[in-house]
Amino acid sequence: MADVLGIDIGGTGIKAATVDVAEGKLTAERIKIDTPHPPVPDAVGSVVKQLVSHFGWTGQIGITFPGVVTDGVIRTAPNLDPSWVGSDAAEFFRDVAGVPVRVVNDADAAGLAEVTFGAGQGHQGTVLMLTLGTGIGSALFYHGILVPNTEFGHIQIHGEDAEKRASEHSREIEDLSWSKWAGRLDTYLDTMEALLWPDLIIIGGGISRKAGKFLPKLSLRAAVVPATLHNDAGIVGAAMFASRSSSLH
Ligand code: BGC
Repeated sequence: MADVLGIDIGGTGIKAATVDVAEGKLTAERIKIDTPHPPVPDAVGSVVKQLVSHFGWTGQIGITFPGVVTDGVIRTAPNLDPSWVGSDAAEFFRDVAGVPVRVVNDADAAGLAEVTFGAGQGHQGTVLMLTLGTGIGSALFYHGILVPNTEFGHIQIHGEDAEKRASEHSREIEDLSWSKWAGRLDTYLDTMEALLWPDLIIIGGGISRKAGKFLPKLSLRAAVVPATLHNDAGIVGAAMFASRSSSLH
């Protein structure tokens, strides 16, 4: 199977690499460019163009977006620029890259990569993937099938969006101790557990590399494990979505 270029658009960085989608592995060194500010479509489009030409890419491309995406159209962009909302990102990036592009929610992509090649590989029960980064992204699977565009980072906890309390970004900007932040995360995960009763919760995002600092402080019924593809999960998942011919969101 031919490689696919995966591009992962985040609030702080835009990462890309070519991916062997049969193996779930990067086949070139990952490139990261800072997300432009303000992160408006034209500025992000220029970064995508730069990445596509860096790889000299003319094949399939999958791109993640940190908001709700239905059939290539952006529905929400809480941590990027509001001018994205309502735009057809698949069409926009196709014009930028000159080849067909598939656009998918970032956590859905990361989750797909983890249940296929990572911490949730082969799991048949209810698996909840949560990415803790600038925001909180979610992906829900049962028998390995994704329910797209779940937005569990916006569940209200103590009257606030959960991502404003328990994301990695909130830990950094509020300079929270690991214990204090783990307490907030535990409250959030308790709520998710009471609503969904997952068998397995996978914690993704860069913070998955520091799992030892907070996982032991959690008290959940479900098994909670760190993602194993770390920062590559979004890139791998984006490429996987692009290589699939079905019309999943
Ligand atoms: C967005 C999600 C996204 C998550 C992680 C949230 O604020 O609503 O769509 O997956 O951030 O980027």
